[in-house]
Amino acid sequence: MMATTIYVPCDTTARSLGADAVAARLTRAAERLGVDIQLKRNGSRGLFWLEPLVEVETATGRVAYGPVAPTDVDALVDAGLFEGRQEHDLALGDIEAHPYLARQQRLTFSRIGLTDPLSLEDYTARQGFAGLKQALALTPQGIVDEVKTSGLRGRGGAAFPTGIKWQTVHDTPAAQKYIVCNADEGDSGTFADRLVMECDPFMLIEGMTIAGLAVGATQGYIYLRSEYPLAQAMLDEAIVRAEAAGYLGDNILDSGHAFHLEVRLGAGAYICGEETSLLESLEGKRGLVRAKPPLPAIEGLFGQPTVVNNVLSLAAVPLFSTRAARPTPTTAWASPAAPWRCSWPATSPVAGWSSWPSAPPCAS
Ligand SMILES: Cc1cc2nc3c(=O)[nH]c(=O)nc-3n(C[C@H](O)[C@H](O)[C@H](O)COP(=O)(O)O)c2cc1C
Repeated sequence: MMATTIYVPCDTTARSLGADAVAARLTRAAERLGVDIQLKRNGSRGLFWLEPLVEVETATGRVAYGPVAPTDVDALVDAGLFEGRQEHDLALGDIEAHPYLARQQRLTFSRIGLTDPLSLEDYTARQGFAGLKQALALTPQGIVDEVKTSGLRGRGGAAFPTGIKWQTVHDTPAAQKYIVCNADEGDSGTFADRLVMECDPFMLIEGMTIAGLAVGATQGYIYLRSEYPLAQAMLDEAIVRAEAAGYLGDNILDSGHAFHLEVRLGAGAYICGEETSLLESLEGKRGLVRAKPPLPAIEGLFGQPTVVNNVLSLAAVPLFSTRAARPTPTTAWASPAAPWRCSWPATSPVAGWSSWPSAPPCAS
């Protein structure tokens, strides 16, 4: 008989709410009852009020329970959790049918919650590295063109068109160029970058590698805020695994192209999230803002042309670095109505306006 797969999230939020103790209790209960389980640590699906959210794989799909305290485990198991029975008050059924998830179209977060973040097998089974493989078949300019056409704008706040930034770095000759991921995530209460890094780190690695191919950079750095020790551990391990499997290193997937990646811890100052202070800090200096121009795309890290992009910007790249992988229709990405693009309502909330006077701000 096959082992029953049980999912317990392993990200910072779920762990701070007791996920590790829940996992340990489930393992002990299975041993006590002689039930063969495979405990899989997935990422959080983002419904934090239901964490720790335990899911059980059944013949008809996953059945969820939450929020599960360690002291709930024995009662849940007695009520048939290992068989996916739903008699207990904490049973939630199919979590994807929950209104919070059912109304979402997940792209960057499409794998999060479904996979073990450090499993290359899980990642590749769900389109992982498909974008990189397709990018390797394009010229650097071809990749930049795809990113431009996609309409991707930076997620770090300014919404600057990512393809135009990449074009500048691509067009600036230099012996060494860099890709820098801004993972400082300094704004209070924000955690989307952390979720990506803890729950699907290969996606960021893949996006940065594609960026390197596009602009001719062979070295990347993830500037990570020091308050994210788990993200650091996940990224470090994911980088080791990606290198061992040939997705990073001197000869990516036998293509002859090199790309190396390292994590650097931030200095703990909010200003170090600003890209030029970040570059100063990455160079080992005090995080002070540089005067612009020159732009980092022309004179960035160690004075070399540098792409600085936010985590979510880079993590989105594998989705549409090529036409085949991009959500259809192509223009949907640029459409103000695209549900994943921003949360601006279709009609204007301003009194007297029945609709936006022009496109909503996020579409400009
Ligand atoms: C004070 C200040 C703090 C910032 N903090 C962050 C941050 O934590 N993360 C981030 O991605 N961008 C931050 N930015 C924006 C960056 O300077 C930069 O625009 C961004 O990393 C570019 O990436 P993008 O084009 O992918 O958005 C900050 C800007 C300022 C002025």
